[in-house]
Amino acid sequence: NLQLPLATMLDLASGDMDPYALVVERRLSHMAEAYHDRAAVTAAAGEDPVIYRAYEADVPHEASQLVYRMTIIEPGRIGDEFYMTKGHHHVVDSGEFYLGTAGTGAVVMQTRSGEVRVEEMPPGRAVYVPPGWAHRSVNVGTEPFVFLAVFFGNAGHDYASIERDGFAVRVLADGDGYRVG
Ligand code: F6R
Ligand code: ZN
Repeated sequence: NLQLPLATMLDLASGDMDPYALVVERRLSHMAEAYHDRAAVTAAAGEDPVIYRAYEADVPHEASQLVYRMTIIEPGRIGDEFYMTKGHHHVVDSGEFYLGTAGTGAVVMQTRSGEVRVEEMPPGRAVYVPPGWAHRSVNVGTEPFVFLAVFFGNAGHDYASIERDGFAVRVLADGDGYRVG
C-alpha cells in the first residue's frame, strides 16, 4: 500500500496553505518566559497576542518522509525584542531547509556548544540549517514574515532545552532596524 502523491497550494505572500493538516498557533502566553523584558511581557499579557502560526501538509511524521510547513510570524515586539518562534533542537539530529517567502526576518542558529549564526531570510533566500543547530526565527520587519520549512518526518522537536537555556543572543530593535545582542 504505497502512499499517494500529495499536492498543496502555498500562498508564498500570505503563508496560507491549501489543503493543510495542522495549524500551530502560539500566543505570548505559550512562550512568555522567552522574552527578556519582564515588564513588557506583563503589559502585553492581557491582550495575549498571537505571535505566530504554522500550516503543515498532511505528511506523516515518520522516517523517510519530508514534512513541509509554512510559518507566519506577525510583526511586533515585546519591549525591544522582536516577535519570534520558540525555537528548538531536533530530537534526531537532522538538517532543515528554510526559504523566506515574504516580509523581513532572520533565523538564529546555535549549536549545543554555544556557537551562533544569524542569517536573514528575505523572499527567495534559502537557508540550510545543518544537523546539530537549534533554530529560532524572528520577524524584524513591519509586515508578517513568512517562510517555508522542510524537515525529516522523524526529526522530532525538542523545545525543553531552549525553554531552559534560551539562545545566547537576542534580536533587538535598533532604530529602524535590528541588532543582535
Ligand atoms: C520545523 C521548523 C519550523 C518551526 C516553525 C515554528 O522543524 O523548524 O517549521 O517548527 O517555524 O517554530 P517552533 O517549532 O520553534 O515553534
Ligand atoms: Zn526545525
